Amino acid sequence: MTYAIQDLVIRNVTPFDNAEITNLVAEAMWDGPVARWLHPDDVVRLRDTPRYFEIFVEYAVQCGEVYATADAETGRLTGVGLWFPLTSPIPAPADYEGRLKEVAGEAYDRACQLDAAIEAHHPMEPHHYLAFLAVHPADQGHGVGSALLDRHHARLDAAGLPAYLEANHPRNRDLYQRHGYQVRSVIELPDGPTLWTMWRPPMG
Ligand SMILES: CC(C)(COP(=O)(O)OP(=O)(O)OC[C@H]1O[C@@H](n2cnc3c(N)ncnc32)[C@H](O)[C@@H]1OP(=O)(O)O)[C@@H](O)C(=O)NCCC(=O)NCCS
Repeated sequence: MTYAIQDLVIRNVTPFDNAEITNLVAEAMWDGPVARWLHPDDVVRLRDTPRYFEIFVEYAVQCGEVYATADAETGRLTGVGLWFPLTSPIPAPADYEGRLKEVAGEAYDRACQLDAAIEAHHPMEPHHYLAFLAVHPADQGHGVGSALLDRHHARLDAAGLPAYLEANHPRNRDLYQRHGYQVRSVIELPDGPTLWTMWRPPMG
């Protein structure tokens, strides 16, 4: 299979594009450690995870920078990277608390704990924040995630800007380490998974 990197920054795209990106993120993440902690019940998690990610996809399309890769033959989305350029303040998502309450259901308190932990560790220095990197399960392990990282890192390096993210699994932490990130702090979610906050200074 071949992969084509579309290096455009998507902004003001149609609702269809948002839905496609949301579905991809949800399919990649729905069974991950944080999603399992938020919604231990498989049925509830499968139902509610896309609506949770929809908030952040909409936010990234509006205020961030979204990179996507597509299958060269079919055009099907294979991977996305959702970045936020935190070099100047950006507004919070519209009615975030209300929407979170609506989509998180019983997981609302844990979703707030997650947000608070992430917020408490977030660096103040200007940087680009990688909120989500997601590759469709059928396409994982073929270099799509690395290509998405390389694409944005090249821009950051040219601009002399650092990057920041939270890794949710040792395997992801190792991937990011290979791309120049260093562990900055560790978040232990209550009765939940470990997150590693990671910082990448500009290179080159
Ligand atoms: C993590 C992820 C974005 C990496 O993208 P990818 O295209 O699979 O990664 P690449 O092919 O460029 O690199 C492979 C490396 O990614 C990491 N990786 C993490 N989860 C992986 C998975 N399910 N399958 C393959 N690689 C994975 C490993 O470090 C792997 O190297 P290894 O095989 O030597 O252990 C992708 O696997 C994914 O979407 N996983 C589920 C969602 C997720 O965890 N996102 C990151 C949140 S921090």
